[in-house]
Amino acid sequence: MCGIVGYVGSKEVVPVILEGLRRLEYRGYDSAGIAVGTEGQATLSVRRAPGKLRNIEQVLRDHPLHGTYGIGHTRWATHGRPTEENAHPHRDCTGRIVVVHNGIVENYLELKRELTAQGHVFVTETDTEIIAHLIEQIQKESSLQKESSAHSETAGAPSFDRSVGQGWVPTIPLEAAVRQAVKRLTGAFALGVLSSLEPDKIIAARFGPPVVLGIGEGEYFVASDVPGILHHTRNIVFLNDGEMAILTLGGVQITDFEGKSLPVKPQRILWDPIQAEKGGYKHFMLKEIWEQPRAIRDTTLGRISLDSGQVFLAEMGLKPEDLAQATSINIAACGTSWHAALAGKYIIERLARLPVEVDYASEYRYRGPIADPNALGLLITQSGETADTLAAQREMIALGSKTVAICNVVGAMITRDASGTIYTHAGPEIGVASTKAFTSQITALFLFALHLAQVRGQLTTAESMALVEELSRIPTKIEEMLKRISAQCEELARSFSHARDFLYLGRGIHFPIALEGALKLKEISYIHAEGYPAGEMKHGPNALIDETLPVVVLATQDHTDSGSRLRYEKTLSNVQEVTARSGRVIAIAVEGQEDIAQLVEHVISIPKAPELLLPLLEIVPLQLLAYHIAVRRGCDVDQPRNLAKSVTVE
Ligand code: M6R
Repeated sequence: MCGIVGYVGSKEVVPVILEGLRRLEYRGYDSAGIAVGTEGQATLSVRRAPGKLRNIEQVLRDHPLHGTYGIGHTRWATHGRPTEENAHPHRDCTGRIVVVHNGIVENYLELKRELTAQGHVFVTETDTEIIAHLIEQIQKESSLQKESSAHSETAGAPSFDRSVGQGWVPTIPLEAAVRQAVKRLTGAFALGVLSSLEPDKIIAARFGPPVVLGIGEGEYFVASDVPGILHHTRNIVFLNDGEMAILTLGGVQITDFEGKSLPVKPQRILWDPIQAEKGGYKHFMLKEIWEQPRAIRDTTLGRISLDSGQVFLAEMGLKPEDLAQATSINIAACGTSWHAALAGKYIIERLARLPVEVDYASEYRYRGPIADPNALGLLITQSGETADTLAAQREMIALGSKTVAICNVVGAMITRDASGTIYTHAGPEIGVASTKAFTSQITALFLFALHLAQVRGQLTTAESMALVEELSRIPTKIEEMLKRISAQCEELARSFSHARDFLYLGRGIHFPIALEGALKLKEISYIHAEGYPAGEMKHGPNALIDETLPVVVLATQDHTDSGSRLRYEKTLSNVQEVTARSGRVIAIAVEGQEDIAQLVEHVISIPKAPELLLPLLEIVPLQLLAYHIAVRRGCDVDQPRNLAKSVTVE
């Protein structure tokens, strides 16, 4: 939700910032802007444009900017419409200070009233603008205080130059003013601040949303996420909450909000910047669908033993007795991660025989959860930044629970307060519609369930070995399936892309997959879609069925599992109820399942697997179907309207 890129060095700054913003555009694309410092100019030059990055690129072609330091922003609108005026960077009254911001200033109305009374004039509807004015006010007050004390000491000889800007010049450096300003803000912020009075300097501050710094050779970068600067340097510093960075040509300094110096500890990022490129695919989403075998493999790597069936998850930071004494698991997550959580409930309850509750993170604290220090909290989040999920984590901790995160971004917020983190190694996911993060999360949940079951003595060695082996076969099965079904999904998209509504049905662990299939379709194709438990159709939704309604049914089964066979038979009855009412069924079935083929119009067949691992396979055709339908409808697959990749507001 909003991307920031800043640079101080000797290169032309505009291409550096635009390139970085392009890589961060997944974070928001309602508007974009850039501020550049040019030597000898009293103010910073700002260009802004509503809409996607290509609009600001056009503005910059028409009205170029030159300089060697600056800051850029790509916005996901929270306060104020996505207009040019509301695009970042925002300025103070003098035009000397510019601010870019990711997050929400919760007390902005109160501050706005105060600053307006002090004579500040606001020209935007945003919360961010108050930050620029607040910094201005702090600098102005410090200057006037110095003036009055200088007057009283040496009458008539002020110690500042009245000829600059609005008749005063700051007597405290920008970082000191920012430090005072951030203490007055409530809410969440990642900030980048520049002042034309202090060239070649960027101040960055973090309280909530992420800030990373890049350490180059005589050049320094700041960004909201690693891909924004990885093309320039692999030496990355992850700023912590409550920290500020001062970037100048001389290097980077880090302090806390009290001004105490902190060590600068760069980490070497090993992943290839190419991972964040489309690599020949038309869209990131398609590339990420095809990356799933690799992502699942990497998520299991080093965590399983095929010889003993054991699963190693020391990174959870929990003692075996914490797991052994756990009375239940509470999972909170949002969106696609919530669907993974729901699938996780089936896996954990089945393997570890421990009750699992799954909450929408955005609802968790409003249902008044009951404190149980032996209940283990599990937070699932690709980005690790989702505000609702962070709030649920705080609530769980306040209720006395230990929390574990399942997260894809190293060092993300959610990992800070967790006892430990099971990282999914999906690599950067750029498409707003989550694909490889989802299958990696289910993989991590499967590992978690196996580990828990082993610690709690719920699985024999033979059972563990069989399950671990089946898991290790999944990536190859997906590879093979992708090659086989891609053209078929594209073809089906041709027949169904004009549908107005879609239904997705599943039973048991396949119900969350139905939900996820429906979410994929609606978020990228804008077709109304609903996921439903297959057995619930007769309790109402059957009324929707007619010859125009495509119904996607997860009709897979594991022949070796009696529960799975029973579920399949019941689902088959539900399919018949749909076809009897002329509904158009697309069934997802395992290879060789002939009975379903005789019943329905279309079957997409997937490889055989144990019941609890089938979700990893059956979601893939649903992702492809949604993708091809969206492409046929001319939708912006990677950046669907009104959405952003990480949602840092509640
Ligand atoms: O980063 P998170 O996993 O916490 O994000 C949660 C949701 O916002 C996210 O899964 C969203 O639903 C996806 N973009 C859907 O594809």
